[in-house]
Amino acid sequence: MSGILAGKRILVTGVLTESSIAFQAAKVAQEEGAEVILTGFGRLTLVERIAKRLPKPAPVIELDVTNQEHLDGLADKIRELQGDDAGLDGVVHSIAFGPQGAFNFLEGTWEDVSTAVHVSAYSLKSLTTACLPLMERGGSVVGLTFDAQFAWPKYDWMGVAKAALESTNRYLARDLGPRNIRCNLISAGPIKSMAAKSIPGFESLADVWNHRAPLAWDMADPEPAGRGIVGLLSDFFPKTTGEIVHVDSGVHMIGT
Ligand SMILES: NC(=O)c1ccc[n+]([C@@H]2O[C@H](COP(=O)([O-])OP(=O)(O)OC[C@H]3O[C@@H](n4cnc5c(N)ncnc54)[C@H](O)[C@@H]3O)[C@@H](O)[C@H]2O)c1
Repeated sequence: MSGILAGKRILVTGVLTESSIAFQAAKVAQEEGAEVILTGFGRLTLVERIAKRLPKPAPVIELDVTNQEHLDGLADKIRELQGDDAGLDGVVHSIAFGPQGAFNFLEGTWEDVSTAVHVSAYSLKSLTTACLPLMERGGSVVGLTFDAQFAWPKYDWMGVAKAALESTNRYLARDLGPRNIRCNLISAGPIKSMAAKSIPGFESLADVWNHRAPLAWDMADPEPAGRGIVGLLSDFFPKTTGEIVHVDSGVHMIGT
């Protein structure tokens, strides 16, 4: 098999529907030669059904990143699938959740905020450390952010959780560099996924792209973000870590 991920074994979290950024990452990864294992949260039958739409079949392991037993058992479940020479060359963290209260900055409670930070930011650390026993030869961890430099309309405490995710990425990159593990994020523009649908007022947030994007941006197309993830998983960024690569049609650098 040829391709920029030929021979690589990649764990992809966060597939829920075909509009999931993770689905596109898994699809492009397979097209580029990777062997992909998925994890699914909650609606496993749905995830298994969506997994069948990938170019090649991919097994699905149940993983709630707030469940310590799931995290503790993850490496063994991957070993059960892969056998004696089990290992991972890459991990995709494509997970976020905020209760409705987290999308109201002045009213959001600590319970709302702590859930958002636990699922959306701390989990980058807990997922990565759960996979470390399988990454003895090094590898690449890639997560997804929504540019946390700005106070966006409606995004509120999820924006704070993304700032925490971006910082978590830098500390992970610092601590895992000596093991030859790179940690990077894709900062994606708005995509109409299930996660986006749960953000009240997502349209007003996304409207910024209609006015400011130098390159055309299609909110119904998660593939550019998926391709960016695969680029960072590949050997083409061997000395890039702690980085945030924007796949946002250039909105991040436009002044007005
Ligand atoms: N959609 C956008 O506009 C956009 C833009 C930039 C970044 N992102 C980020 O991309 C990532 C993927 O989101 P998406 O837009 O593809 O939406 P999505 O709804 O398809 O994916 C979110 C995933 O998070 C999973 N999840 C939620 N709670 C979990 C838990 N406790 N344990 C394990 N998994 C859990 C869901 O099952 C789902 O698969 C998220 O980090 C999101 O913030 C999305």
